[in-house]
Amino acid sequence: MNKTEMNERIREIVGQLTLEEKVRMIHGDALFYSGDVERLHIPAVHMSDGPMGVRCEFPRASWIPVGNSDDYVTYCPSNSAIAATWNPELAYKVGQVLGEETRGRGKDMILGPGINIKRVPANGRNFEYMSEDPHLISELVVPLIEGIQESDVAACVKHFALNNQETERLWVNVEIDERALREIYLPGFEAAVKKGNAHAIMGAYNLMRGVHCCENQELLGEILRKEWKFDGVIVSDWSAVHHTKAAAESPLDIEMSVTYDFDDYKMARPLLEAVRKGEVDEACIDEKVANILRMMIRPKMLEAAGRKAGCYNTPEHREKVRKVAEEAIILLKNEEDILPLQPEQTKELLIIGDNAERLHALGGGSAEIKALYEISPLMGIKSQLGGNTKVTFARGYCVSPKEEAEVNWQETSTEEGAMTKLKEEREQVSAELMEKRKALREEAVNLAQNCENVIIIAGLNHDYDVEGYDRDTMELPYEQDLLIEEVLKVAPNAVVVMRAGNPVSMGKWKDKAKAIVWEYYSGMEAGNVLAGILFGKVNPSGKLPETIPYCMEDCGAIQLGEFPGRALTEEEKQRMDAHTTVEYKDGIYVGYRYYEKYQVPVQFCFGHGLSYTAFTYGDVSVTKEVGNALAVTFSIKNVGTVAGMETAQVYVGKKESNVDRPVKELKGFKKVFLQPGEEKKVSISLSKDAFTYYDVKEKAFVVEPGTYQIYVARSLDHVEKVIEIPVS
Ligand code: BGC
Repeated sequence: MNKTEMNERIREIVGQLTLEEKVRMIHGDALFYSGDVERLHIPAVHMSDGPMGVRCEFPRASWIPVGNSDDYVTYCPSNSAIAATWNPELAYKVGQVLGEETRGRGKDMILGPGINIKRVPANGRNFEYMSEDPHLISELVVPLIEGIQESDVAACVKHFALNNQETERLWVNVEIDERALREIYLPGFEAAVKKGNAHAIMGAYNLMRGVHCCENQELLGEILRKEWKFDGVIVSDWSAVHHTKAAAESPLDIEMSVTYDFDDYKMARPLLEAVRKGEVDEACIDEKVANILRMMIRPKMLEAAGRKAGCYNTPEHREKVRKVAEEAIILLKNEEDILPLQPEQTKELLIIGDNAERLHALGGGSAEIKALYEISPLMGIKSQLGGNTKVTFARGYCVSPKEEAEVNWQETSTEEGAMTKLKEEREQVSAELMEKRKALREEAVNLAQNCENVIIIAGLNHDYDVEGYDRDTMELPYEQDLLIEEVLKVAPNAVVVMRAGNPVSMGKWKDKAKAIVWEYYSGMEAGNVLAGILFGKVNPSGKLPETIPYCMEDCGAIQLGEFPGRALTEEEKQRMDAHTTVEYKDGIYVGYRYYEKYQVPVQFCFGHGLSYTAFTYGDVSVTKEVGNALAVTFSIKNVGTVAGMETAQVYVGKKESNVDRPVKELKGFKKVFLQPGEEKKVSISLSKDAFTYYDVKEKAFVVEPGTYQIYVARSLDHVEKVIEIPVS
């Protein structure tokens, strides 16, 4: 069906709908369904979280899961893990898994991917997001969406926009300058819309420049609809709509919420009444319905036949997510080539740390997954080593106990003060708990004293990487630093594995540990994959999609900007319907852009990641391609003894500039696989966009003519070659 035919069909259907039916379609009629119109065979839109797989089944009006045995799914690596692969083909593969399983479970829309910028390492939802860098996000989100939508379902990219913290997430206003908005916070969404053709976008909870995102004309109207020509569906985050008239007159299409009073949603009965009283024009509703119908036509929701059926829990899906997890694990440090460990020589192995045994799938908030299975590191290692190695486990530390919740967190998640309980619980320390931790630590240290091979598997869990809560500090919880330090004293070759969704401070022991491995939540095959990396079956090839600073206070958002914001005055509160405001004075200086410009030392830099083999880079040349793009060409050779993958990164900078700008910015990358001794030519294309900045006066991305530096690098700090070129 071409565009004209589609619009004709939409017009026809809209013409047949009554006002009541139209209003039914534009708000939730169940926690994860919009309203249907049986008379005209218009189905409801069945939605499901989330970014790491298709969430379990919920009743229409209850946050207590149905609890059947038929909604177990493939648990995919988190978006941070996908970003750590730096591999668009793998992003596409996860997309395929998500899309097939969404359809396989009978849904129409998956509420993901989440692509907000990681502005502060405090954000409890950072594990759901990809990176601090807009280019990396843009390159990965497009294939991810394409993979999803291939299965006749819609991807709903979230959370548009500036949802960069969980503190006061429903009531925080973001003040941001136009350049930072355009250069840092919007490009991922723009790529998702313009290149990925996402069928849906989720409006964020927070406010932008004094207006709630889901009612925000500037964001949804001027930018998303007019500039980017987005004609898909805009869905609100659950309870992000606050005012009937403002929402109705904004480009938002579907209001969703966490409460069960569906008929009383802002865009339900109150809207019907407003239209009848003449306060809101019915044409606003027609437009929303048209967008919903267009979204339905694309994944064939209105066809009697021909729509893909999907599938879930297939062996192919498990294989795909395993592959992604393999490329997502990052080797941060490997002195004396401590890793990989040799299975035949490992007669005894001591594994320390609660994270060796903890399963993470069913945590984190709306991204939770009812996984078909999840292999813990302990199980992965044991199953890979078999019976010839004696594996001992010592927990080493324990988490703080939590009370069984009376209601599902999401049911009350939007109520005042609802999201404080976990924070208090996770940080609680009692004399008894301290004693327990001390005993666990002593046990681990004693065992480590007499064991040649020790692996510590620690980090965070979903008490910290969790929706609704931010962290106050990057320090490891549960006295883990003390544990790691003491173990390293008696077992200096102990390998440290950090499993976490957000940077952590490793400063107390980082220099003492010889080997450090970083793992984001990497799905159901995590334990098998980690074992493969530790024992050399898999050569690590992940690179950091974000900087790991020393501590929270070091980051640009806190040094230059504000976080988590200041309380509004009574007058402001009334005017904006918000509680706090946060000014992004850090502007474009987010992540490495800040650390590099302000010369702040970090634990591990953006783009860093080692391998069990070694690579050399050949000479770099820059040539003109057709259409004025530049090709940066060089060769990479595997000079080690095992096959491996290297991600070459191209950064662009301009030392002499009239514009305030970062030292350099990522503008291209490529991952290559090389057998030992093999050499490959790599060519990375830079379009004009790679040289632009956002000119606030011109209201456009422009190029400042002059000399630019092109950096070919292994990571931000490890530059191989710099070439200067003139650009006009
Ligand atoms: C989250 C969304 C999620 C929605 C539905 C909200 O709390 O912010 O990301 O998709 O709930 O579960």
